Amino acid sequence: MSAPVNVGEYAELAAAKVDPKTWCYFEGGAGDEVTLRANTAAYGRWRFRPRMLVDVSEVSTATTVLGTPVSMPLGIAPFAMQRLLQPEGECATARAATAANVLMTVSTLTTCTHAEIREASEGPRWLQLYILRDRERTLEHIAEAREAGYAAVVLTVDLPYVGRRERDLRLGFENPPSDLALPYASLFETTPALTWRDLEWIRAETGLPLVVKGILTREDALLAHQARRRRPEGAGARRSRRLRGPRRRLRTRGLRRGGRTARAHPAPRGDRARARAPRVHVAGSGDACPRRADRPL
Ligand SMILES: Cc1cc2nc3c(=O)[nH]c(=O)nc-3n(C[C@H](O)[C@H](O)[C@H](O)COP(=O)(O)O)c2cc1C
Repeated sequence: MSAPVNVGEYAELAAAKVDPKTWCYFEGGAGDEVTLRANTAAYGRWRFRPRMLVDVSEVSTATTVLGTPVSMPLGIAPFAMQRLLQPEGECATARAATAANVLMTVSTLTTCTHAEIREASEGPRWLQLYILRDRERTLEHIAEAREAGYAAVVLTVDLPYVGRRERDLRLGFENPPSDLALPYASLFETTPALTWRDLEWIRAETGLPLVVKGILTREDALLAHQARRRRPEGAGARRSRRLRGPRRRLRTRGLRRGGRTARAHPAPRGDRARARAPRVHVAGSGDACPRRADRPL
């Protein structure tokens, strides 16, 4: 193949380089892969509405994401176990992200430590968090990420259990492979017992902007929006001084509830209000659960 010119061609090159038994994990989806196909097809349904007779002699895709300047509104989603693809794993991805000046979100199931990733290149970076059955280890993990300068926590909520991945079963992919070192956790240490209360707990413990990843219904988007306004309990109160102020509006704006549009409330003012309401944001999701990909939320 000549030099790749689009994402599909890069994927083809990668597939040719990686052992099929490993590649099935990176390429495959759950069950009959109905959602995976639907998600891919959904991208093809987006259409731009270009406006004409606008001076575009100087254009820029640069923007900010939660206050972080980036070269374009695209980032690297968290994906696990990158040393299966390349010996330098997440460190290599981090260098690429820095070169392109885009945001990288590092998975809890990273194969490099956060210190190694920081050593490899400067941010900007967010931490994707799975809450483990062992809460203490979860907190230790967050502390290490804070130390490494992560700017936000992306809490994945759509993986209480791992889907039945038929490609992995067919080719005998072991998840995680027994010879792969995972410094923070493996998938099977994550807890299936998460509730909205844990969202409040983690918000209080991190003191960083919190992005909720994997919300699939408008009902849950509303609950996420409401969670940002509740006062965290326990440790949260102890740490409330470090919590950051709320965004003025969540992306739930415009969602309909009971026939009326549910509005995000304006930010309360002052220190006490800030302690009550650190940032919670809702991000899109993958194919862990079936959904109508063409009608997110
Ligand atoms: C191989 C692979 C590993 C992934 N690992 C994680 C992970 O560790 N944590 C997480 O929150 N999401 C993980 N995801 C989900 C992605 O972050 C993303 O939400 C999903 O792939 C949908 O985005 P896409 O349509 O751009 O692929 C993984 C996805 C893939 C394909």
